[in-house]
Amino acid sequence: MVGVVIPAAGQGSRFGSAENKLFASLAGRTVLEHTLTAFENHDDVQWIVVAASMRELERIKDISLKYSKVLKVVEGGESRQESVLCGLKALPDDCEIVLVHDAARPLISQHLISVVIDTIRAEGSAVPGIPIRDTVKRSNNGVVTETVPRDNLWAVQTPQGARRETLLSAFNTLGARIREMTDEASVLEAIGFPVHIVGGEVSNLKLTVQEDIPRMEFYLMTTPRTPATYRTGMGYDVHQFVESRELWLGGVHIPHTLGLKGHSDADAALHALCDALLGGAGLGDIGVLFPDTDPAHKNRASMEFVQETADMLKRNGWKIENVDLTILAEAPKIGPWRSLMIDRIASGLQVGRDRVNIKATTSEKLGFVGRSEGIACWAIATLSR
Ligand code: CTP
Ligand code: MG
Repeated sequence: MVGVVIPAAGQGSRFGSAENKLFASLAGRTVLEHTLTAFENHDDVQWIVVAASMRELERIKDISLKYSKVLKVVEGGESRQESVLCGLKALPDDCEIVLVHDAARPLISQHLISVVIDTIRAEGSAVPGIPIRDTVKRSNNGVVTETVPRDNLWAVQTPQGARRETLLSAFNTLGARIREMTDEASVLEAIGFPVHIVGGEVSNLKLTVQEDIPRMEFYLMTTPRTPATYRTGMGYDVHQFVESRELWLGGVHIPHTLGLKGHSDADAALHALCDALLGGAGLGDIGVLFPDTDPAHKNRASMEFVQETADMLKRNGWKIENVDLTILAEAPKIGPWRSLMIDRIASGLQVGRDRVNIKATTSEKLGFVGRSEGIACWAIATLSR
């Protein structure tokens, strides 16, 4: 199980703007949102802890609410390593592997995250680096004192990491000495733990000065984006015909001699729809969310369940690609109501009409539907994130 610590408690002094560089906009989203999205989207990552300065704690908490993997936003420290330690302590005990990634590196790829995690699993530690290609000099008062041989020299990036135990014991051993260290690899090196270098990415830039913004936007525009994840869910529901109830189907009141029996308005089409959506998102089913043992749901309009389900999907980052319903009923005829049902469902889900399809069929007089004892409905939903 992998946890990620995102140090975001720096002042951003070299960036020189009134607002912290982490809130600067890159292609329409803040730097911090890009960074959080990268780890939220990685399947191996289970928890994210963000270290923020007191000044920005509330704003960073607000942004983090959108990410289900963010466990906590903690207050950071004076130095980067103190911030990292605050984050490290907030990860749960069953977190085996920890990555530390600068909030200010929003272009981190899914591939590099995977390489770092796999290397830690195999070797116990990892740091991404790029071999230095330029000639390197040391100077004193603007005059070169030495040419440093560039063989085996690397410019290192984040995410860096190791097993949680290793990092914690290194931080404990070094105590106040961590303050001067600018990365986690230095902390491991200082206790003599071997640090493994993996190939970094030229695009994995750290936002430091204003001039970095156009370069980063260029990479954002030209690097292929991570493909969306698609999920499908199905739902099925049946309700029995009874006398003296209104018939509600697909969010529409249909005049009919019989209605459907149930705790809520018994709209089988909308119940199947909710189950398909919840199924696709891996969020359980309608019975768990709106139990028919709860008097609060008695006679409720099922359209409210649809709206709440759509909200829940949205909070979890899912977009509804399409839904498709099949209503099985001998009577009444669904055709005349189809267009209105599509309107109501599209508006309940807050999607365009083109994403909603409704079909109806009889059951050729076979089975409980055929004997007009009730109505059944199937639904399928495709989601993306
Ligand atoms: N950081 C942190 N706590 C600190 C200092 C830095 O969490 N006390 C974080 C920054 O928010 C950033 C990352 O460490 O995400 C890398 O640091 P850097 O790029 O140097 O950012 P700042 O320290 O914010 O910028 P500057 O050095 O220009 O002030
Ligand atoms: Mg700094």
